[in-house]
Amino acid sequence: MSLRERVAAELERTRRRSEILTDAVDDADLVRQHSPLMSPLVWDLAHIGNQEELWLVRDVGGREPVRQDIDHLYDAFKHARRDRPQLPLLGPAEARAYVSTVRDKVLDVVDRLPSDPARPLLRDGFAFGMIVQHEQQHDETMLATHQLRAGSPVLAADPPPSAVVAVGGEVHVPAGPFDMGTSTEPWALDNERPAHRVDVPAFWIDAAPVTNAQYAAFIDAGGYDRPRFWSAAGWEHRVSAGLEAPLHWTRDGGDWHATTFGRTAPIVPDAPVVHVCFHEAAAYAAWAGRRLPTEAEWEKAARFDPATGRSRRFPWGDDDPTPRHANLGQRHLRPAPVGAYPDGASPLGVHQLIGDVWEWVDSDFLPYPGFSAFPYREYSEVFFGGDYKMLRGGSFGTDRAACRGTFRNWDHPIRRQIFSGFRTASSSGPA
Ligand SMILES: [Fe+2]
Repeated sequence: MSLRERVAAELERTRRRSEILTDAVDDADLVRQHSPLMSPLVWDLAHIGNQEELWLVRDVGGREPVRQDIDHLYDAFKHARRDRPQLPLLGPAEARAYVSTVRDKVLDVVDRLPSDPARPLLRDGFAFGMIVQHEQQHDETMLATHQLRAGSPVLAADPPPSAVVAVGGEVHVPAGPFDMGTSTEPWALDNERPAHRVDVPAFWIDAAPVTNAQYAAFIDAGGYDRPRFWSAAGWEHRVSAGLEAPLHWTRDGGDWHATTFGRTAPIVPDAPVVHVCFHEAAAYAAWAGRRLPTEAEWEKAARFDPATGRSRRFPWGDDDPTPRHANLGQRHLRPAPVGAYPDGASPLGVHQLIGDVWEWVDSDFLPYPGFSAFPYREYSEVFFGGDYKMLRGGSFGTDRAACRGTFRNWDHPIRRQIFSGFRTASSSGPA
């Protein structure tokens, strides 16, 4: 497949997903704000088109603007999410027409793409890959909005695969340097670059993410009532926000239920816990006598191959993810049980690092040595050093185009409307 064909296919595949998410609800639901944490879905849709227009129609294509007059409405830095419903946004029909007009122009730009472009922005189709990832990231955000939406279910998918192997306990990761980040992945974003050696002391990491049953045991043991398991900031948030369980959990008699895209059912004991914030993850780890892994530890567990000493693109190797490797791409609407993806394990035997749930790690968002902002400071640089913790590995709602062993996500440590879970680590091994 030529680069032009690949770019066009990825743009098309991604747009189908945006359509599923926006066609599933009626116009009233598209313009409604389902949570102050989220934009109305119709904002995400036109924002996707506006970013595509800015980068691919105007910058790469050098074409006339389609709707310069609306740029300010869809600039995420100008208006907070909670304020977006009050803006004079494009309505559902206008937004759909707008993104389709932009896409037609972009496909024409793709047709005329030079095969060996001199501009760094066009090398290996980077600008197109960046826009595909941007749309996929907003699709995951829209999926999170669907999860917050009240009303009858509108999304459906096959259940995830069942466990086929028993996975538990922890894995020893020997001390030594490994290559973190990438200088060669063509569509990697600026914050994943460049590749650099990091020396990591020996540590142990859970072979699988923490499950619903394990997390319920923490709750039942009074984990939410004991400040000593929480950081000062975590305890303050736990009290002020009234946290008692993961978001979307309710107790029915003695049993925990979770509401997933409008359907309430008993929690799946052996599936990774989802919708916990960083503070909850850290408190669980402290209760278990452990800690969260650092970002470097997570990436070493995911990518380091002790047989060759090199870092892989993914835990299973260098091949792109397939349905046999990981629960990605909204193919299923929840995490798969632990042990469902033996073919996706890392060489050290760590499972389900990619897909299922984003995993909180105990590292701040900082640039790698040698970082340079590309193609604009607002992608990463303006967030460095802020009140963020890192999340790694992608969730069931993350597309393969926006997920790699090196991919870095970040959010405020109190956020849990995202598809976030975790696994624990320790420096001293099993107790
Ligand atoms: Fe955006």
